[in-house]
Amino acid sequence: MRRRTFMGAAGAAAVTLALSGAALAQEAVKIGLILPMTGPFASTGRQIEAAAKLYMQQHGDTVAGKKIQLILKDDTGVADVTKRLAQELIVNDKIAVMAGFGLTPLALAPAPLATQAKVPQVVMAAATATITEASPYIVRTSFTLPQATVPMAEWAAKNDIKKVVTLVSDYGPGIDAEKAFTSAFTAKGGQVENLRVPLANPDFSPFLQKVADAKPDALFVFVPSGIGAQFMKQFVERGLDKSGIKLIGPGDVTDDDILNGMGDVALGAITTHHYSAAHDSPENKSFVEAFKKANNGMRPNFMAVGGYDGMHLIYEGLKKTNGQGGQALIDAMKGMSWTSPRGPVSIDPQTRDIVQNIYVRKVERKDGELYNVEFATIPNVKDPVKAAKSN
Ligand code: PHB
Repeated sequence: MRRRTFMGAAGAAAVTLALSGAALAQEAVKIGLILPMTGPFASTGRQIEAAAKLYMQQHGDTVAGKKIQLILKDDTGVADVTKRLAQELIVNDKIAVMAGFGLTPLALAPAPLATQAKVPQVVMAAATATITEASPYIVRTSFTLPQATVPMAEWAAKNDIKKVVTLVSDYGPGIDAEKAFTSAFTAKGGQVENLRVPLANPDFSPFLQKVADAKPDALFVFVPSGIGAQFMKQFVERGLDKSGIKLIGPGDVTDDDILNGMGDVALGAITTHHYSAAHDSPENKSFVEAFKKANNGMRPNFMAVGGYDGMHLIYEGLKKTNGQGGQALIDAMKGMSWTSPRGPVSIDPQTRDIVQNIYVRKVERKDGELYNVEFATIPNVKDPVKAAKSN
């Protein structure tokens, strides 16, 4: 009797499946991935696209019985374009979730649409602290500049660095880095002078001349991913590599994507960040190997790991909601924890920001290539700006 009931149910299910094939196809869960695939920040787009595709290749394109469809759009790095693309993806394609967002202005532009349409927005790259406050539907898998920077200030203060010049790109994340470093370092008795360089087409040389004249113990630098090589070139041209001034900062400047091409000038740079391709864990070894294999040897950087973890968060969230997007999906993502290639991570249920280890690293040559080699770990770091507000 039991057996017959079971067969009956299975038979009915088979008929339903056959009849609703077309309806099921329409029910695909769509992910809108908006990235700068062209323009000066195309390296971020390329890294995140590759990581998202790798995740899908490894985990399949079906979640909770529904087909996952990734729709990639190029915003060319222009915020108005990001907003228009998000609008089209929401209205025409009826996406369940949008993801990507290569720079802070590109993450902020569609935030009101996320709120209005109740579409979760997974920020995989942009890193100004306040971004998650722009909509209750934003969740972040990258990092925040204050999260990566405060440990740098503490390391510098403990390591005989007394006078620092900060040089940052003059927009959200750079200003975050400058403020976080200055307040944490001066609180430990350090001395700081601040310089800001334009984000677009930066010419570092007049600023580097000021640094040479100020003769600090260290130069703290933030430039967004992809720009570090340009900075390093001018650093050498100004002779600062021979000045004895140490190079420190959050790890964006020694980005894995371009580090190996920088040459010996990068050796010895001390940075603090959440991801290094040299991170020593079985999860990271297999991630780096698979990423390189799928992308002609390209090394994944911290943007790639933000994209890979963002896809993980979407897949696991959809499993919990049975494929539903909207409020259910953002709620399912809150508090989630997993082991990333970067180490253990979780989504803070209050702020929707990622909680993660920050590593202190030094650029070294390993097997003939330059890497950020981790030598100390600050575990489970929250964004300090939001942590301070909730106290
Ligand atoms: C940002 O615009 O928020 C951003 C971009 C690149 C980075 C860090 C932050 O490396």
